Amino acid sequence: MSKPVVLITGASSGIGAETARLLGRRGFRLALTARRIERLKALVEEIRSEGGTASSFQADISKLPQVKDMVHQVGEKYGNIGILINNAGMGRLQWLDELDPLRDISYQIAVNLTGTIHVTRLVLPTMLDCGQGQIITVSSAAAWVAPPTYSIYTASKFGVKGFSESLRREVQNQGIHVGMIYPGPVATEFDQHAGVSWETEKTTPSWMLLEAEDVAQAIYRLIKTKKRRIILPWPIWVAVWGNMLFPRLGDWVFSRFFKRGEDSSMIWGERR
Ligand SMILES: NC(=O)c1ccc[n+]([C@@H]2O[C@H](COP(=O)([O-])OP(=O)(O)OC[C@H]3O[C@@H](n4cnc5c(N)ncnc54)[C@H](OP(=O)(O)O)[C@@H]3O)[C@@H](O)[C@H]2O)c1
Repeated sequence: MSKPVVLITGASSGIGAETARLLGRRGFRLALTARRIERLKALVEEIRSEGGTASSFQADISKLPQVKDMVHQVGEKYGNIGILINNAGMGRLQWLDELDPLRDISYQIAVNLTGTIHVTRLVLPTMLDCGQGQIITVSSAAAWVAPPTYSIYTASKFGVKGFSESLRREVQNQGIHVGMIYPGPVATEFDQHAGVSWETEKTTPSWMLLEAEDVAQAIYRLIKTKKRRIILPWPIWVAVWGNMLFPRLGDWVFSRFFKRGEDSSMIWGERR
């Protein structure tokens, strides 16, 4: 019996690409989607050269017609999607008044939240027909502890958390598992697109900084164990409980570390 087909959104870099490599080695058949098709094609070649099965499907997840086409094409090529990994996402991390209403705010919600909802809704019917399937969504530790300058990103990641928790209860009796991954900082291209000048490697203690492969391993664990959620790395749990039990302390810590610089942009710990 061949392993299920896995659709991974945001597979052209970072967590999505590492998850594709890992699942490709484990024998899953992969449908990889993102906008940067050349990157996807190169990844498909890499996975095939190691004996895996993968294909690329270009789509901008913020555009519903493209999402519909993509899901249709995956169905045509592979048949039923057994596992959906909602990973595509981006952040624009600036003070709210500095965010552009369309480019930064609406677009961020369209990619991280609405896009995730549309892909899930289009993939769900065949899972319901089959009476089985897994939907795994990559949220963020920011869905538990909301830092300044993450307002829209956090809204989108709280959003997918609420969406997935409700959906889990909606489909749990139909044989479908809905799981969530909440990573802390990960060394990927994420910061390059986020509009901040600090670098994760410089500002996050090394014991806290994850590699994309750590998150890929957590996704694989979630597929195998069908747990509801994985929050990683473990110190994030301390922040989650600390934030819940001592919100005033949380406010104080963030007010110390996130300040506007003279040029009004974000700083972490020191003036830029
Ligand atoms: N890095 C972190 O610190 C961190 C922490 C917690 C959670 N996360 C979450 O992890 C997920 C993966 O991020 P990453 O860290 O691996 O960053 P990344 O390397 O920048 O990867 C982001 C992926 O999302 C895709 N994407 C972005 N906009 C898209 C759009 N409009 N349509 C389709 N695909 C789009 C990108 O592909 P194209 O550009 O080719 O379209 C890329 O493949 C995101 O949901 C992110 O919010 C990241």
